[in-house]
Formats: sequence, C-alpha cells, structure tokens
Amino acid sequence: MATSTRALLLLPLLLLFLLSRSLSLRADPGAAVSRIAFGSCANQSAPQPVWEAVVGFDPQVFIWLGDNVYGDNKRPFRVFGRERTVGPWRNVPRFYPSTEAELRRRYEMAKAKPGYAKLRERAQVIGTWDDHDYGLNDAGKEFGGKVTSQRLLLDFLDEAEDSSRRQQAGVYASYMFGPEGKRVKVILLDTRYHRDPLSSDGAVLGDPQWQWLERELHGPRSEITIIGSSIQVISNLSATTGPLFYVESWARFPRERERLFRLIDSSKRNGVLFISGDVHFGEISRYDCGAQYPLYDITSSGLTQSVENSVPSVFQPLMRLVALLTPTTLRVFSPNCRYKSCTYGQPNFGAIEIDWNAVPPQIKLELRDVEGNSVGGVEFPISELDPSKAHAITKQGHSYQRHCALETELPWLVRHRLALLLFGTIAVLVIAVVLLGITCLSAANIFTKKSKME
Ligand SMILES: *[C@@H]1O[C@H](CO)[C@@H](O)[C@H](O)[C@H]1NC(C)=O
Ligand SMILES: *[C@@H]1O[C@H](CO)[C@@H](O)[C@H](O)[C@H]1NC(C)=O
Repeated sequence: MATSTRALLLLPLLLLFLLSRSLSLRADPGAAVSRIAFGSCANQSAPQPVWEAVVGFDPQVFIWLGDNVYGDNKRPFRVFGRERTVGPWRNVPRFYPSTEAELRRRYEMAKAKPGYAKLRERAQVIGTWDDHDYGLNDAGKEFGGKVTSQRLLLDFLDEAEDSSRRQQAGVYASYMFGPEGKRVKVILLDTRYHRDPLSSDGAVLGDPQWQWLERELHGPRSEITIIGSSIQVISNLSATTGPLFYVESWARFPRERERLFRLIDSSKRNGVLFISGDVHFGEISRYDCGAQYPLYDITSSGLTQSVENSVPSVFQPLMRLVALLTPTTLRVFSPNCRYKSCTYGQPNFGAIEIDWNAVPPQIKLELRDVEGNSVGGVEFPISELDPSKAHAITKQGHSYQRHCALETELPWLVRHRLALLLFGTIAVLVIAVVLLGITCLSAANIFTKKSKME
C-alpha cells in the first residue's frame, strides 16, 4: 500500500514539475525581454530553412509582419490569348483569392513546418498580416473575404476564443513586455482592413484604428516602443523605381504618413521605432525630420521570398547592381553591411537585441541571413530615441538630421537614373539594330547592282 500511495502523491508533483519545465521554455511574462525576432513573406509550399537560424537566435518574442502564408493565387503572365493578365488590354486579374478551406489548409502547412513548431515552443509568437495572407495581392478595405481571413489568421496565431481581437474590425493589437524600467511595447498595425485604394492618398488605418493608436501612444510609458507595419513606413522605393515598378508603402499615402509622424511627435513618446516587411529584401532606413528624434524602420523580407531567389543565379549579381544604382536618401549605410548597397536580397529575418545592463541601455537592430549571420545593422543607446535629448544629440554633432531629404527631393536626373539607364539602353539597342539593318540593306543593294552590271 505504502508504495502505491507514495506514487500517487508523487504523480501531481511530477506533473507540476513537467508543467513548470514546459512553461519555463516560454518567456516569463514578468521577465525583461532582450531578444526579439521578426520576419515576413514565407511561402508555405517552399522549404523554410530560415527557422533554424531564428531558433538559434533564441528570441523570447517572434513577430510576423505579414505574407505569413501566400493565401492567394497567381495566374500565369499572359500578354496575348484568351486570358490576358498584363497590359492595358488584360481581361482577367493576375491574382485571385482562395476558398476558406484552402486558406486554412495553407495556414496548417505553415504551422506544421518543424522549424517553426520549434520556435513556437520557445518563443511567444505574435503577428499581423499583409496582402497575401489577407487574401489578395495589394488588396485593401474593398476585399470581400476579410472577415473570414481575420478569423483564420487569429486561429493561426492561437488567439484566445474570447479575445477582443476577434470582435474588432481588423487585426491590430498591442503588447507590453517586461518589468518597469525595462518595458518593451509592441504595437502591430493593420494596413489592410480599412485601407483605401492605392493612389487615392486616402486612409491606411481608418478612424477606429487611429483612435486606438493614439491611446496606445499616449498610454503607459515604455523604454522601447516597436511599431510593426506590414508595409515600409520610412523608405519610399517607388519614388526612385517608378515608372519601372511601384511597391506599396506608407509613402504612397503621404497624408496618412504625415499624420503618423505628427502623432508620434505630439505624443512625446520616447523609444519609438518601426519594423516592416513586404518588399522581398532587407534594409534599414531612417528619417530624422518626422519627430524629435530619428525614426528607424528595419525592413526584413522575406523569410523565403526574396528578389535574388526569384531570378536564375547568373542574374543575381545584376540584381545587386540594380540595388546599388537605386538612389536612396533615407537608407542607413554602414561598413558592416554584407553588400555595398546595404540591402539584402536573399532570405533573412530581423533581430533586435537589447542590452539592459549597459549604461545607458543599448539596442542593436540587425538583419540576419539563413545561417543566422548578420548582413547589416545599427547599434545605439536607447537614450538617443528621446525627445527631451534631441537638442543634446544635435549639439554633439551626431549624425542626427542627416536623413531629412526625401527621395522625391533628389535631382531629377539622379532620382530617375534607373529608368533612364533602362530606357537609354533599350534606345541604343534599337538604334543599333536599325543602323545595322540599313547597312545590310544598302550593302545588299550595292551587291545586286554590281552583279547586274556584270
Ligand atoms: C511557393 O513555393 C512553391 C514550391 O516551390 C512554388 O511552386 C510556388 O510558386 C511558390 N509560391 C510563391 C508565391 O512564390
Ligand atoms: C513617394 O513616391 C511617390 C511616387 O513618386 C510619390 O507620389 C509620393 O508623394 C512619395 N511620398 C513621399 C512621402 O515622398
């Protein structure tokens, strides 16, 4: 009897022990957060080796920034024929949404990736969406499947059944981590649910979300506030790549972007920085004239989707050359970038490290490759992101207010050099072909005249 009772008594203890062990793997809600990873653009049908590197970084929190799965479908590129998908004469849209069952299946595939499963055991995973997991490429508030998509994303993120996030219109959310004096706030925006059409200069967030954001920024203080936006906040790539191609970004909605900067500025909140995804490459940009201190935007994209992997490997150096030739005023250049352009066009993730023990505490913002190696980053004391210190920073002659000119302020020839180069090359080739043709024709003429005379 004695042994079996003892065993019975020990059982709950054993269970408790196992439970506490599994819990200790997750971040203790009261503990300081010093490692945060983030990423975007993960194709659920492709291998996702990057998770090993993310797990290796050992983040306490992982943030999805959208295109967490590719939920929509792409028709082939067709200029001619019955289903034309490109050109002004196209008659079917290039992208179309999936059924609910299919979108759910894709989320299940993503969740079953062994590397991601390992990460979920160790870190708290949170996130927002971008267009492809929202349900349709470049879609905004007009998209009819958004209520269903919201439920499926929140299921994927294990959001509690009774969470208020399931009741609201859109997936925006905020989190506060760490004890007083070492607080990290994460604000995740929804840039899809309420967004007006792309060239409308209309809404990105919509009124309810703006009011919520205002409350969040004016709310309890934190040493660091990370604002996650699926699309880039600072960089305006379209200003220098148009008319060749355009990407989505806050800069395409100048009035809403101004409103965002004004809100951050007037809230007097310290430690605000942005993280973003979407563009299939990584870069760090910075704008020094949006608030009383530099506003950084660390863009990591994608976990699997990347500009260099979308072309045959012989063209990859060409992609790097294009990146180098693309003018920019807000990108942060530093000697520790892997490539001279300080962009990274292969799969990557974002890594944020906070050294709370340093005096003053330091923050390191990095992009890392699939091996977990840094491909570029910046590091500075978090006290640099403080409106009350702005004057001191300027006086110390730090690089403050170096990144103030927007891309649209570049001289015309510089701003459009990519397009000029491309159209110039095409023009030269066309002229060369025409000249060659004329030469051949006249040579043939002379030859036939000569042979007739003989
Ligand atoms: C995802 O990966 C699969 C398998 O490699 C590929 O067929 C598909 O085109 C990819 N999807 C996207 C959106 O790149
Ligand atoms: C970004 O570039 C686009 C395209 O040139 C332009 O319409 C827009 O005004 C720019 N935004 C900002 C904030 O400069």
